[in-house]
Amino acid sequence: MALITWQSEYELGIAEIDNQHKKIVEIINRLFEMFSTHKLQDEAGLTQILKELTDYADYHFTTEEKYFEAFKYPQAAGHIEMHNNYRTKIEEFKTQFATAKDEAIFFNLTNFLQDWWIWHINNLDREYVPLFKENGVK
Ligand SMILES: [Fe+2]
Repeated sequence: MALITWQSEYELGIAEIDNQHKKIVEIINRLFEMFSTHKLQDEAGLTQILKELTDYADYHFTTEEKYFEAFKYPQAAGHIEMHNNYRTKIEEFKTQFATAKDEAIFFNLTNFLQDWWIWHINNLDREYVPLFKENGVK
């Protein structure tokens, strides 16, 4: 069973961003499914998905931040701070995970991912939509 079911109300109406968000959800679901199938035994597989998730989130944040700068988004600083908090939190999880392959850590991680992304997309990201649209982002 998927951890996150994508809902049409999560869409911002900007295909470039929506597709990136869907891809992130897809990676999170894959991480969760790998756990459901192999528990924490496929260490290489888990490490690989976590790396993919980190790299793709970075790519996505960079996309948003590039537009913030180009369009002089007034709320950029606070938004970028949230992205950086996320990066820090993920690094903490990876460190914890490297020392103990613990199911509790894994569940904390997946809960965090689910809550963070759904909240972030539906609240903070939604605030830049008018500006991005005005500037022709599709
Ligand atoms: Fe964002």
